[in-house]
Amino acid sequence: MNNYKVAVIPGDGIGVDVIKAAWQVLELSAAKHHFSLQGEWFPWSCDYYLEHGEMMPQDGIATLRQFNAILLGAVGWPQRVPDNVSLHGLLLPIRKQFDLFANVRPHRLLPGVRGPLREENFDILCIRENTEGEYSGAGGRLHQGTPQEVAVETSIFTRHGVGRILRYGFEAARQRSGRLASVTKSNAQKYTMVMWDEITDEIASEYPDVKVTRYHIDAIAARFVMQPESLDVVVASNLFGDILTDLGAAIQGGLGYAASANLNPDPAVPSMFEPVHGSAPDIAGQNIANPIASIWSGALMLDHLGEKQAAQGIMQALEQVTAEIPLNQTQSTAAITDAVLRLI
Ligand code: NAD
Ligand code: IPM
Ligand code: MN
Repeated sequence: MNNYKVAVIPGDGIGVDVIKAAWQVLELSAAKHHFSLQGEWFPWSCDYYLEHGEMMPQDGIATLRQFNAILLGAVGWPQRVPDNVSLHGLLLPIRKQFDLFANVRPHRLLPGVRGPLREENFDILCIRENTEGEYSGAGGRLHQGTPQEVAVETSIFTRHGVGRILRYGFEAARQRSGRLASVTKSNAQKYTMVMWDEITDEIASEYPDVKVTRYHIDAIAARFVMQPESLDVVVASNLFGDILTDLGAAIQGGLGYAASANLNPDPAVPSMFEPVHGSAPDIAGQNIANPIASIWSGALMLDHLGEKQAAQGIMQALEQVTAEIPLNQTQSTAAITDAVLRLI
């Protein structure tokens, strides 16, 4: 019987509620499909920071390295710990240290779900670069607090980093409709995005079966709303991908529906699975957070671990639930979770 070690980090706010839900579904799915999930829970969060002065222990990354996968809820509670401290202390180092370069975010309307802008025909796979670009962390402030202050935040794009995320996008496009959208802002940005376009063209010559279209980030944002059926696989830099995927989440029904996988294809390091949304302090602890994004992220985890049938089973259960139950504010986290559990 296959056994997988999973590091579970619920994190902050609704992360705790939605990961509890996802874990219940994962455990039941494992039992039904005859494999075992050995979960170890880590309390790393803003509360942990207030007690220990750090978001995770010094050897946190080394600890996580022992696992086959990481399941994470959300990090951040800006009223307690500044976001740049909490995120740079936990979520972002995990992505960076394990080189989880492909942040894969499927955006589609599940059956029965009506988004605010679309009721059907919305199915886009976003592939977001996850380790460099605008999130390089390089920069600084000069003359801080004075009228002469200058702040610099440097985007760092490497040929290696851009090449591998684009290649990931080409491969994904090949598995789907053969259409790839490459997102830049190369009309305004002269160096990084121009290099991105050049690398896109170079790799395109290796994939004659994939039709690539270049879009500027502003234009593709409008296209997400106006003509999303013209898009299929979308590959974007770290920040552009971040913004586009909250837009994708909104169109697919809300933040509570969007799942993500932070992947390094090397099975020797743990990939991380988490909803796209954050800790939603405004609704924390009220049993109203939508757990679907986290349950879906759990399915992405099982798929990555090779438990394809179990992953499909979770997706089928989710789709049946969304098709049958009108999901709105009156559905509690527990009610949605129970409905999914009954169908596993
Ligand atoms: P957010 O995604 O937490 O919330 C935005 C809005 O969406 C809120 O109104 C919230 O109630 C709603 N929402 C989010 N998830 C929902 C769900 N599952 N069900 C129902 N409604 C949901 O974004 P924010 O308010 O900008 O951020 C809150 C905190 O989370 C900040 O500290 C932020 O930095 C952090 N954050 C963390 C992650 C992460 O860990 N991956 C992602 C995004 C934001
Ligand atoms: C996400 C989040 C994070 C990001 C934040 C919390 C640093 O918004 O996972 O989409 O920007 O990557
Ligand atoms: Mn985001």
